[in-house]
Amino acid sequence: MRQLPRTPLANLPTPILPLERLSRRFGVEIFVKRDDLTGLLESGNKVRKLEFLVGEALSQGADTLITCGTLQSNCCRAVAAVAARLGLRAILALKGDKPASYDGNLLLSKLLGADVVYCAPEEFARIEGVLAGLSDAVRGRGGRPYVIPESGATELGAIGYLECAHEIAGQWRQGAPAFDTLVITAFSGGSQAGLLMGRQLAGLSAEVVGVPIAHPAAQVRNYVGATIARAAARFGLAVEPPKAVHLLDGYQGKGRGASRKEELDTLIQLAREEGIVLDPVYTGKAFLGFLDHLARDPREFGSRVCFLHTGGIFSLFPFRDSLSRLLDGDPLVES
Ligand SMILES: Cc1ncc(COP(=O)(O)O)c(C=O)c1O
Repeated sequence: MRQLPRTPLANLPTPILPLERLSRRFGVEIFVKRDDLTGLLESGNKVRKLEFLVGEALSQGADTLITCGTLQSNCCRAVAAVAARLGLRAILALKGDKPASYDGNLLLSKLLGADVVYCAPEEFARIEGVLAGLSDAVRGRGGRPYVIPESGATELGAIGYLECAHEIAGQWRQGAPAFDTLVITAFSGGSQAGLLMGRQLAGLSAEVVGVPIAHPAAQVRNYVGATIARAAARFGLAVEPPKAVHLLDGYQGKGRGASRKEELDTLIQLAREEGIVLDPVYTGKAFLGFLDHLARDPREFGSRVCFLHTGGIFSLFPFRDSLSRLLDGDPLVES
């Protein structure tokens, strides 16, 4: 692979830790790779992608990062954090109305000085035009914009997870447990695509399994395949498109807008059993899928399996009402 501009942002390598009580419950060894601890404001999987995306932005002389997402987008908050850290400007196009008060990721993005543009759903449906308009406005003021698509979902962003596979291979060489399967949350599927490329290049034997949390499995599968093909062509990578993209389907629930009782129950259970806190929108849904499959067949993922925790903790706080009801044993009225 040719050398790509990379801005060091993450605390790496992230630890691989055993989940002892859960392992005993299912009779297989279960680990978690703590990518929620990549740092730069607990930026989860995003910061690995941003090392390359921001690397390219800086190599092009950009002074303004523009991106988009939901009001509680982890990626937007991570972009706001990186911009503040590097002395750049951040502009976030968020789907929804300005809330009466800020919470979770939006509160942090505002705190970090990002400019926020609120978009109605119809406007967000043509987000590329919105981002192009914001870029023109920045240029008009003499600035240099760099656009990061939602979730950093480009072949360049995926390189962050190609590097993560190399990191895991290095951890194995230094004695970390060599697991049979790595399970990861999939929104776009970009992180999974990166791992699948890195798996080939680093010679990792682990199977990579994604859990779609919003889009239909077919859409994620297509995105993963297309991203690998684009990355191979653009960066000259010696990777084959995977014969199959392994996904656990059926755990999208209500998508990114809402969380169901069983997802929040999973989150509470893992926090209490292992002291690991998931988020309700991404990793909570994926972990529910993972546990559901383990309950049906504990050996489905081999005798050693690792869940890659991609972060997202701040979106927990806007769920305070539902979580409080569950924690107090009150019935949850799902919206
Ligand atoms: C916490 C968390 N986990 C997982 C993902 C999914 O990442 P990807 O779009 O690479 O599939 C996201 C991004 O949207 C996220 O914020």
